[in-house]
Amino acid sequence: MQSEINPWSANQSIDTDKLFTEFGIEPIEPVIPEIHNPPAFLRRGIVIGHRDYRPIVDAMNNNTPFHVLTGFMPSGHPHLGHLMVMKEVAWHVQQGGNGYVAVADREAHAVRNISWDKCNEYGREYLTCLYALGYEGETYYQSTNNRLKDLAFEAAIKMNFSDLQAIYGFGQETALAHAMSVATQVADILFPQEDAGPAPTIVPVGIDQDPHIRLTRDIAHKLRFFTVEMRDGYVSVRSKNAPEEALAAVHTAFPGSKKYEGHVDIKGAGLADVDAKVRSIEIEYGGFGFYSPSATYHYFMQGLQGGKMSSSVPESFIGFCDTDKAVKKKIMGAVTGGRMTLEEQKKLGGEPEKCSVYLLNLFHMVDDDDELTEICRACKAGELMCGTCKKATYERVKEFLADFKERMDEAEHKVDER
Ligand code: TRP
Ligand code: SF4
Repeated sequence: MQSEINPWSANQSIDTDKLFTEFGIEPIEPVIPEIHNPPAFLRRGIVIGHRDYRPIVDAMNNNTPFHVLTGFMPSGHPHLGHLMVMKEVAWHVQQGGNGYVAVADREAHAVRNISWDKCNEYGREYLTCLYALGYEGETYYQSTNNRLKDLAFEAAIKMNFSDLQAIYGFGQETALAHAMSVATQVADILFPQEDAGPAPTIVPVGIDQDPHIRLTRDIAHKLRFFTVEMRDGYVSVRSKNAPEEALAAVHTAFPGSKKYEGHVDIKGAGLADVDAKVRSIEIEYGGFGFYSPSATYHYFMQGLQGGKMSSSVPESFIGFCDTDKAVKKKIMGAVTGGRMTLEEQKKLGGEPEKCSVYLLNLFHMVDDDDELTEICRACKAGELMCGTCKKATYERVKEFLADFKERMDEAEHKVDER
């Protein structure tokens, strides 16, 4: 089924029921109670769904290793629309994750026609923002990471044009470099495990990136030499495409195991132990032992003109380097969920769930849940008028940006020192 979720489309209106019923994304809500001190993006429904997030929650709760990776396409200056993903990566690192951030300059150059110089400049800005948020971990540019490119090549062995057509609608006219940038993104998502060893990996992304996640999960699976499963009283290690010596090594690693044509049965050892050993044998014999990556999906922050917050529509976003004057103008001119007249507003109340100003507060500007609830209530009750609300929001944004710019200045040297 060709996805209706297209990573390169400007149209991001999303039918959430379809996400769950047709695409197999799971709702995030049932997982939240298992998370200690869930941050705003989880509490407030900004992150809406996930694939396989439970192993990550377990890793956070049990202090076992996990990786977190995301990527940014440097096709313009970073703005508030990018802040959510940045916060998600930084938070997972704080929860014990081993952090990686990719600057997707190959994708920006191939798909968006951005020059390498510009990629470099925008990439620096993204990284500065991340460090300003307290991010700690690896960062790299796709174009200069040779091991990444090798991994992309390996991944490409398991990709074919009919999959690319089915997933992205690629056709005869699609540039080969576009397909290569897909392989590179697959490699990004698997890179932490290649670099630091197999472990569950969380990839926080916007919903539009799900096709890449599905493809990568599929490829991670195809690259495995073995499947490891609990059967009745024993663990079965079955070869998918393992070299014969690797299967023999599994047999040797577990004394008393039985080796058959294409599989080894192991009694007296736990699933987790066998699983870990098998992954390390895979690596020893030229494989990867990858876990299929997990993902969380968040809504995009609505632009100030409705629609998507996009670099190509300056009035739609608030940039980290916008002047106060520009920010004020954008917020005061924003599309709200307010009524046509003050009278109507007082009588009917506003519609915060449709309001770009409210969503700005919900996403980033109001930390305190009670304060946010009060804004929502007063708006709906017709007690809060849009003019007042916008001014208050502008004051919050101004303060946020002043503080953030200071942090960016302090963090800039980290970009050079990486
Ligand atoms: N394609 C992503 C975007 O358009 C950027 C990206 C590249 C990415 N590599 C990634 C996102 C790996 C998540 C994981 O923004
Ligand atoms: Fe939006 Fe505020 Fe107006 Fe309500 S009062 S519609 S939250 S701007």
